Amino acid sequence: MTAEDLSSSSITYGLNTSFIGQKVIYRPRLLSTMDAARLEVRRGAAGGTVIIAGEQTGGRGRMRRAWLSPPGNIALSIILYPDIAGLPYLVMIASLAAAHGIERVTGLKTRLKWPNDILINGKKVCGILIENEVKANRVAYAIVGIGINVALKASDIPGISATATSLEDELDRSVLRPDIIRPLLTEFERLYLLLPAGESIYAAWRDRLEILGKRVEVRSGGDVLEGVAESADESGALVLRCADGNLTRVVAGDVTLRHQ
Ligand code: BTN
Repeated sequence: MTAEDLSSSSITYGLNTSFIGQKVIYRPRLLSTMDAARLEVRRGAAGGTVIIAGEQTGGRGRMRRAWLSPPGNIALSIILYPDIAGLPYLVMIASLAAAHGIERVTGLKTRLKWPNDILINGKKVCGILIENEVKANRVAYAIVGIGINVALKASDIPGISATATSLEDELDRSVLRPDIIRPLLTEFERLYLLLPAGESIYAAWRDRLEILGKRVEVRSGGDVLEGVAESADESGALVLRCADGNLTRVVAGDVTLRHQ
């Protein structure tokens, strides 16, 4: 087993969980762990199964954006079968768990950016993508995708150099991916097992959002809204105080800070 071994046994070795990561499927190269996870769902995968790719060649982000995940970064998906009431908390759990894994191993301070980014020094280091299928008010499955820039040389990549970073860019030393994945999975399970009581998950997530109280611009669908990010509610929606004083709930979009 090499130090950077991402194989199933390397991740599960010493992993202190009861179901998250008890089965890990590792593939050196995948188009996307989201598609591989969906295939595993069809094959009857147990809740908590984790799919990890050494690299992704067709990784995707929110809003059909591409997600770069060359070798050396973390790309994983977790298969879950939550109650429908648990769905809004998945992004909160994933954000908190990924932030925990990163901080625990690197000592770097992270902040959360609504709706599902993790930032270090104002730049994106991690993105989360949730895909699910709901049939007749029941969740058929949910797949939580987590991408962490570990070795990405974000500063060399046109288009993201101003807004993205990686753990190694921030630390100037190498980081072992299993060292981050294990605490991430452990914290993910700890938080997930708090459901259906999601209040403490919500409170921890909301308290780490970097934009609350700040003037922001939100792009949602074709609309551009401006206002003060007053809160994020328990469903995960952003509550924006617009210039006319009205409150607007925004369920999906991209936020940028305006000059205060
Ligand atoms: C975003 O910031 O828009 C979300 C990015 C999510 C990337 C992860 S990497 C693992 C999983 N597989 C994918 O193709 N996407 C997610």
